[in-house]
Amino acid sequence: MNAEALTAIEKAADAAPIPMALLAELTHRCPLKCPYCSNPLDLIRRSSELSAETWADVFAQAAAMGVLHVHLSGGEPAARRDLPEIVESAVTAGLYTNLITSGVGLTEATFADLVARGLDHVQLSIQGTDATTADRIGGYKGGFDTKMRVAAWIVAAGVPLTVNAVMHRQNLDRLSETIDLAVRLGARRLEVAHTQYHGWAYRNRAALMPTPGQVARSGEIVAEARRRLEGVLAIDYVTPDHLAKYPKPCMGGWGRVGLNVTPSGKVLPCHAAETIPGLVFDTVTERPLAEIWREGAAFTAFRGTGWMQEPCASCPRKAVDWGGCRCQALAWTGDAAATDPACTLSPHNARMRAEATGEAADADEAFAYREM
Ligand code: SF4
Ligand code: FES
Repeated sequence: MNAEALTAIEKAADAAPIPMALLAELTHRCPLKCPYCSNPLDLIRRSSELSAETWADVFAQAAAMGVLHVHLSGGEPAARRDLPEIVESAVTAGLYTNLITSGVGLTEATFADLVARGLDHVQLSIQGTDATTADRIGGYKGGFDTKMRVAAWIVAAGVPLTVNAVMHRQNLDRLSETIDLAVRLGARRLEVAHTQYHGWAYRNRAALMPTPGQVARSGEIVAEARRRLEGVLAIDYVTPDHLAKYPKPCMGGWGRVGLNVTPSGKVLPCHAAETIPGLVFDTVTERPLAEIWREGAAFTAFRGTGWMQEPCASCPRKAVDWGGCRCQALAWTGDAAATDPACTLSPHNARMRAEATGEAADADEAFAYREM
């Protein structure tokens, strides 16, 4: 490619594309205390949460910008009594609605109400494949049995179910059972999600980090299950960052595909963006969403490729993975504009691998549970 063509591509990459997805963090309240939670350590209280009316306005603005689907998340979205009203407003805006829930706090009547109002899809989290393990990891007794009941309601209502299993050293040896459980529950899709080390998960890194042996086996288990379960269960799986060759394009690239709105209305390019010092975030109650997306200081900070340092700046993959994850770069290198250390081309990659492998060998399995 000649230099002119490359410059044209880079200029286009720096402009704001049309976003596709909105993550609406309706609340940080949650009955569970998962130590792998990516919510910030400083959780937002109920008194600061946006009203259902404001969420309706946010959804209408998002749809007008070209957003196609909304992920209704938290915390636990069912902790909000006005969840049916919120779902209805997203449906009215013309958005595809995905409820991301632990299932705990959802009653059968509320779930029926959500379906009646047009809920499209549910993503149900599981922490383990038996009550003892799952309830210990989630820090909530009775959670596992509740989830089993909720999964049955979802499937009986004909709503497509995705099971989301966040995996780590303390449950990865049960991956085969996790896949079997997703099939038994009637899920169409299973997300085998290796923990991303943000928020509470970062604090619990040493207790969560999988061993290289566990990760190698999990890749084989998934490959076999994908063949065996073709047409029955789709399985999403990617290698954990520190053992991959190249990083993932976090959020599909900063300010390219999706935006997050926090319970109090701050608009973030990703869930951990507030950890980056110096970034200024706009709020939905103070500025139009389209303007925030297009020219808000936080969104333009790392959009495109202009901000990149070497080795990203001259790398042919820079518009493929967009330099990886800014928050991970900050956490491991102290510089949010550095190449993601998960990249084997990063000068910090060897240290990241060595530290992560050292943590995985740690025998301490005690969690610092998420709490308000
Ligand atoms: Fe991606 Fe940067 Fe690594 Fe190239 S150097 S593969 S752009 S993270
Ligand atoms: Fe912030 Fe990846 S979590 S860029």
